[in-house]
Amino acid sequence: MALRDCDLGTPAVDSTKTVTLEIDGFTVTVPEGTSVMRAAADAGIQIPKLCATDSLDPFGSCRLCLVQIEGARGLPASCTTPAAEGMKVCTQNKRLADVRRGVMELYISDHPLDCLTCPANGNCELQDMAGAVGLREVRYGYEGENHLVADKDTSNPYFQYDPSKCIVCSRCVRACSEVQGTFALTIDGRGFDSRVSPGQNQAFMDSECVSCGACVQACPTATLIEKSVVEMGQPEHSAITTCAYCGVGCSFRAEMKGSEIVRMVPDKNGYANHGHSCVKGRFAFGYATHKDRITQPMIRKKITDPWQEVSWDEAVSYAASEFKRIQSEYGRDSVGGLTSSRCTNEEAYVVQKLVRAAFGNNNVDTCARVCHSPTGYGLKQTLGESAGTQTFDSVRKADVIFVIGANPTDGHPVFGSAMKRRIRQGAKLIVADPRDIDLVKSPHIQSDYHLKLKPGSNVALVTAMAHVIVTEGLADEAFAKARCEVESYDKWKTFVSQARHSPEASEVVTGVEARLVREAARLFATGGNAAIYYGLGVTEHSQGSTAVMGIANLAMATGNIGREGVGVNPLRGQNNVQGSCDMGSFPHELPGYRHVADTTVRTQFEEAWGVHLESEPGLRIPNMFGAALEGSFKGLYCEGEDIAQSDPDTQHVIAALSAMECVVVQDLFLNETAKFAHVFLPGASFLEKNGTFTNAERRISRVRKVMPPLAGYEDWEVTQLLANALGYPMNYEHPSEIMDEIARLVPTFTGVSYEKLDEAGSVQWPCNAESPDGTPTMHITEFTRGKGRFMLTEYVPTDEKTTSRLPLILTTGRILSQYNVGAQTRRTSNSLWHSEDRLEIHPHDAENRGVNDGDWVGIKSRTGETVLRAEVTERVQPGVVYTTFHFPESGANVITTDNSDWATNCPEYKVTAVQVTKVNEPSEWQRNYKAFSDDQLDLLKQAATVE
Ligand code: SF4
Ligand code: SF4
Ligand code: SF4
Ligand code: FES
Repeated sequence: MALRDCDLGTPAVDSTKTVTLEIDGFTVTVPEGTSVMRAAADAGIQIPKLCATDSLDPFGSCRLCLVQIEGARGLPASCTTPAAEGMKVCTQNKRLADVRRGVMELYISDHPLDCLTCPANGNCELQDMAGAVGLREVRYGYEGENHLVADKDTSNPYFQYDPSKCIVCSRCVRACSEVQGTFALTIDGRGFDSRVSPGQNQAFMDSECVSCGACVQACPTATLIEKSVVEMGQPEHSAITTCAYCGVGCSFRAEMKGSEIVRMVPDKNGYANHGHSCVKGRFAFGYATHKDRITQPMIRKKITDPWQEVSWDEAVSYAASEFKRIQSEYGRDSVGGLTSSRCTNEEAYVVQKLVRAAFGNNNVDTCARVCHSPTGYGLKQTLGESAGTQTFDSVRKADVIFVIGANPTDGHPVFGSAMKRRIRQGAKLIVADPRDIDLVKSPHIQSDYHLKLKPGSNVALVTAMAHVIVTEGLADEAFAKARCEVESYDKWKTFVSQARHSPEASEVVTGVEARLVREAARLFATGGNAAIYYGLGVTEHSQGSTAVMGIANLAMATGNIGREGVGVNPLRGQNNVQGSCDMGSFPHELPGYRHVADTTVRTQFEEAWGVHLESEPGLRIPNMFGAALEGSFKGLYCEGEDIAQSDPDTQHVIAALSAMECVVVQDLFLNETAKFAHVFLPGASFLEKNGTFTNAERRISRVRKVMPPLAGYEDWEVTQLLANALGYPMNYEHPSEIMDEIARLVPTFTGVSYEKLDEAGSVQWPCNAESPDGTPTMHITEFTRGKGRFMLTEYVPTDEKTTSRLPLILTTGRILSQYNVGAQTRRTSNSLWHSEDRLEIHPHDAENRGVNDGDWVGIKSRTGETVLRAEVTERVQPGVVYTTFHFPESGANVITTDNSDWATNCPEYKVTAVQVTKVNEPSEWQRNYKAFSDDQLDLLKQAATVE
């Protein structure tokens, strides 16, 4: 059974003017510019087509969609002909039928006649069209020159290319260019010799292809097809769910056979992705059924003991009794819990509820602490709401795009493609990044300004831009005075106008030529709609919160907030960073960002939960580690977060974990943290549970269970079991009831329910009585806090200074194919693209150290030392080295320090002073890590055998 979406042939047109025409006697009114093909589809008339599809601009090559138009010469292609007022169109008569059959005959004469054994059988547009035009025989025979023996390209791990089935419709080429923006494909050769060619006639894996799969989705035949479909056959049923990787939150149709996934197809009705995806969401789902999944609860007394497999009852009772023992021995505050941005909203909510209601303290934190907590703080201070202001689609109306400290094509690929499309349409681009990220220069993209700043100087750069805007009279005074606190605006203007904040004075700090900063600032202030997109390159600094406030200042001062095409847009890292923060995962805030000291709010929660709640904020993650080392924090419930790999200064984290008496890890795999755990509670992948994620645009989307949980329980159920065992009753029967409770307690969620989400597809909070359909754009008429507040952004250099002993700055980031700690993507074929973390080093720095590309180099910081392979590249500037952190054995966080943002403790991952030297063997930490890790895996192997 084909599960294909209805295809209207050509993209929708955004026009307020309409035209009315007649098609086969039916009157149709459509927006001006709509194709005749789409107008016909609107009227329920399907015109045969092959080269057209509604995700791509019309191309007009297959000639199957010809129609007759009264008064027009010949038979125009309906896909490329715009509907016009008064037009009379005939889509079906004998002449048209003959021509279409003739076209199909030519296609089929050069096509293998293996429909019955073809993997696309039943879901092939060529097959459908042959049927639609009534083709019964091929007069030319099949013996002529053909492509039937052309070799397959199976180099890509996820899809194959079988040129014998290609009809050269160019849909794949256009998908790669228009949708993905990679331009990896061309049609090579002419006429009969035309064929699709990746790169310079290379195999897919050797070309620039990033394996997004857009070409596979666009292909109307089995030429480009998922290997999983080839192996398993066509799917039978499907459900809409949400990607569990990044903060774009792409919507997918999980296509299934029984309870096995055949493929993930991006949902064209998904508001965040409009039918597009990246390699992770579309292809990297194999981890969910990987052999490393642990599906049996386990306990052990000491981490040197083998694991013992036990029943759920036993594991949960043991964890609860340990937490109770610890609290009675060391006090109520000696235990805490961690939620994660990997979890659903409902899971994060019940974990923080367990901590506050069952543990009786506020010791709950989340991994957003180590990524976007400065966003929460900075935006709350300035705009009044801890969230981005726009939809992703807003970028379509941006005239100037300012990307600072973000790498969207790797970190948020689907949005990166949308952004690139807008840039190709003419939007200007300013990039502020220490590295040459892809956006700086890639096919058909060239940034107008690349402000290649030194790591750690964001605040100085943003303030220097503000200096130009204010001193050159480019601010939107009317907006700033009407919408913001005038006193704060005046103070800020005086502050940024000081000569010490000029681009010239800041040059020594930022390393960016003053002229470029001036020109970029002018462009930002005067180029039309200017939108700011930022990421962890802004937040993960000692002045992360200051930089976020500086960004909000820029937007307010130039009036770039409160409408489409503008705004302040934090690109959230993981799938549910926004949601985990919204759900009260921080130690000082109840769900909905209300301070625990607020008696009115606390009372409301006390009444709903039937317990007394603490009014003092609890411990943040780094404080938990500190308290563990001091001996006052002894028990941790950690769901979905791998602090031993993801948090800075690994040796410190490990020492803290080792000092605890009961570490309970709830996860899919024995991750790095679980190697220090005493109780392991098996988690469920996103395919095995119901819930919701909230993406970077505040969009709440459903996660739907498409297979039963391998270990028997969804994660929220496990937390509920633990709460009950601790003596605090939780009795939800379905996560929708958890969402109903959230809606009762959180003012921005009062209109949210599963019913609403099922009906609308997704909704952006605030969703309440004032905004029943949600809020795509925030702060339209006034800021959430009333008047916007300008904050002064004094640049304070980080304590992490380079010295002659540590002369280079290490900064970190992500890569497209791997994801965060890599626990999921490392267990998929994505590792074929990136099988190890490498250290990027500039040729000058490499030469000074006698380092060649591929050499092993030791990287030493104040906290530790690790060894990686060097990649000599001019992508980084001299004095700066860069690595990713997707593999535990790389030990990237062995060298990062415990410096952190002054306001939120978000770690300063992006600036570490290091020395790099050529070496021949792994560091001592790496050797120890390997020995410890091997031991732990051995203990895991023994699990099933221990009585
Ligand atoms: S998978 Fe994506 S990047 Fe690769 S060729 Fe296809 S469309 Fe282009
Ligand atoms: S590979 Fe598929 S989409 Fe590309 S030209 Fe051939 S048939 Fe068309
Ligand atoms: S862009 Fe992000 S949400 Fe979308 S498919 Fe890729 S990883 Fe998933
Ligand atoms: S569908 Fe119109 S020319 Fe191919």
